[in-house]
Amino acid sequence: MAKGLETSESIQLPPELRSKLIDIENQFNVSTEKLKQITQQFEKELREGLEKEGSNIAMNVTWVLGLPSGDEIGEYVTIDLGGTNLRMCRVALRGQREEIDIKQHVYRLPPAIKTGDSRQLWNFIADSLDEFIKSHQIIANRDDRLPLGFCFSYPASQDAIDHGILKTWTKGFDIDGVEGEDAAAQLKDVLAERGLPLELVALVNDTTGAMVASAYKDPDTIIGAIFGTGCNAAYVENVGSIPKLKTTLPPDTPMAINCEYGAFDNAHRVLPRTKYDVSIDKDSPRPGEQAFEKMSAGLYLGEIFRLTALDLYESGLIFDRQGAAKLREPYKLDTGFLSGIENDPLETSQTRLEECLNIKVTLDETRVARRLAEVIAARGARLCSCGVAAICRMKGITSGHVAADGTVANKHPKFKQRWAEALGEILDWPEDREEDPIIITNAEDGSGIGAAVISAMTLYRIHGGNTVGIQG
Ligand code: GLC
Repeated sequence: MAKGLETSESIQLPPELRSKLIDIENQFNVSTEKLKQITQQFEKELREGLEKEGSNIAMNVTWVLGLPSGDEIGEYVTIDLGGTNLRMCRVALRGQREEIDIKQHVYRLPPAIKTGDSRQLWNFIADSLDEFIKSHQIIANRDDRLPLGFCFSYPASQDAIDHGILKTWTKGFDIDGVEGEDAAAQLKDVLAERGLPLELVALVNDTTGAMVASAYKDPDTIIGAIFGTGCNAAYVENVGSIPKLKTTLPPDTPMAINCEYGAFDNAHRVLPRTKYDVSIDKDSPRPGEQAFEKMSAGLYLGEIFRLTALDLYESGLIFDRQGAAKLREPYKLDTGFLSGIENDPLETSQTRLEECLNIKVTLDETRVARRLAEVIAARGARLCSCGVAAICRMKGITSGHVAADGTVANKHPKFKQRWAEALGEILDWPEDREEDPIIITNAEDGSGIGAAVISAMTLYRIHGGNTVGIQG
């Protein structure tokens, strides 16, 4: 049983329901030993990704050469294509000791775009950029164009920092005409077509953005991690330790790597998949992909809960044959719901269940739902620690800050504690330690500040004459 969880032994339930609940709990339990086994396989896949192209974990080279000095300055525009929103920022960097000035606007992404075609996507982005530029009176000097950082948080392989071939959509996106193509070039084309006064300088993953934005102020940052709709991390490698990379850069050059480790264990060697995980994968737009992400990230946690509750309902063990049609609606319940069921007072959780599922729910059923929410979220947090543990093992990192962002990290009140506990179990930290040597911190704004700092680092590099990995 995962630490910090009471077992359903303490809930008084009819024997059949109790035994089914215990069975589900056992399926979601990840022991310390299992965590260690997962981490070992994880490390192996990370290394394979550095060795050869086409490995399961992509280990994408980002052409972000190390972490910022904190002295980067200048004005930048950034855009962030997120799961539900398109966020635009105008960021003025004035060095690490000064306040960063950000003006931002969030445009709601019409849901149809997520499953539409590339033309609709880029037109929507261009329209929003046009509007943003006008409403914030962003005027480039004379014929100059303002540098643009594009946070594109999907697996893109980069021959250069202003380039990115999308391998596959993740997180439920399914837009025609971008997979296998250069997303940066598509954006550049639409900017040119519309005559927008912007120059794409860098395509940035959210993990790299979180790491760089945090390192701008906090030199102890070792990793940028997203525990949100998706699940992934970035860290800094030495060029000499990336055998697949053929470059003229000296071997000791630092290079940020976007791991894309949501794809860990796509071959199903080690992750403890339940029938619920199998069903989520089967019904997803990209079956067989993102095995790790589908068990641990925010897009899926509520859905896993729905499937376990539906199983109990269909076995005639809860909700007394009330129809529960809402329980059959895929992706009806999100991570916020799951977190509420686990953490709110019991009566509030009961009301939440009743309102959302449109049925009557007893207090005992609420307790059962709470147990499900607990074991699902605890498994997710424990699995999430394996990726970071594997990076630390591989790099011999023994201390530092993991700058984390994403809805699960920020909105689930127990995530960080569970994650930290599991990391200690994997890395054999002494039980009586006063503090953890590797801690999770709240990342600075990766898609705004991070994309701006990376754009600045790129322009500085161009001015200094080092244009390796920059198309221009
Ligand atoms: C998915 C994306 C990855 C991103 C992560 C977190 O795993 O493929 O690029 O970093 O989600 O948003």
